[in-house]
Amino acid sequence: MKVIVCENYDEMSAKAFGVMKELLDAKKDAVLGLATGSSPVGLYKEMIQYHKDGYSYKDIKSYNLDEYVGIDRKDPQSYYTFMYENLFKDIDLNNTHVPYGNTEADCKAYEDALSEVSIDLQVLGIGQNGHIGFNEPGTPFEELTHIVDLTENTREANARFFDNDINKVPTQAITMGIGTIMKSKKVLLVANGENKADAVKAMIEGPIDTACAASALQNHADVVVVLDKAAASKLSK
Ligand code: GLP
Repeated sequence: MKVIVCENYDEMSAKAFGVMKELLDAKKDAVLGLATGSSPVGLYKEMIQYHKDGYSYKDIKSYNLDEYVGIDRKDPQSYYTFMYENLFKDIDLNNTHVPYGNTEADCKAYEDALSEVSIDLQVLGIGQNGHIGFNEPGTPFEELTHIVDLTENTREANARFFDNDINKVPTQAITMGIGTIMKSKKVLLVANGENKADAVKAMIEGPIDTACAASALQNHADVVVVLDKAAASKLSK
């Protein structure tokens, strides 16, 4: 894993975009794996600025990691809406995919679509409990796209998007599995803030164990982790 520690969120976002830009410039039809959450929003702003500066995403494809079960795509809290508001509406990326549904057939359909492409760069955030996508602690590393029951910790962390009311947070999600994520050619994980410091330490320095889903990334050949100082604060080196 290559770990880059930045002064603050803006520098983290700019550095992360630098990693993505190398791919965008080299491969006009690159396939991106995208993530929701507050962590990559700054990176998405950089992507939007690059489009304003003249870059076209018209031949790029994107595949998102996950989506809540039980809320409509058009719901303001859906991950589909999140991606539209924070990225898709401001760039000319038209070939976008966000998983949807609650059945095994829905999971298989998404995995089948993914098997027809090869993700060049998978963007990830990390949950406070070390989840990537919605792969909660204990998820077997070989899982592909599947339906998950969200942990209390994750629902609490995401209640801020649901009027701070945990009862409004969906209890399930559809997510790419760790097995799916590990197939991508390169992984770019961004994390900021002190509340991510334990998860970041477990991901980078902890044992490779399903207790920290992100620790699976230690087995991936090409991972770049971009952190702000606070998220890096518990790393020993
Ligand atoms: C959510 C998403 C993850 C995301 C994580 C962290 O639960 N499913 O993909 O990485 O939370 O979110 P944030 O970046 O807002 O801290």
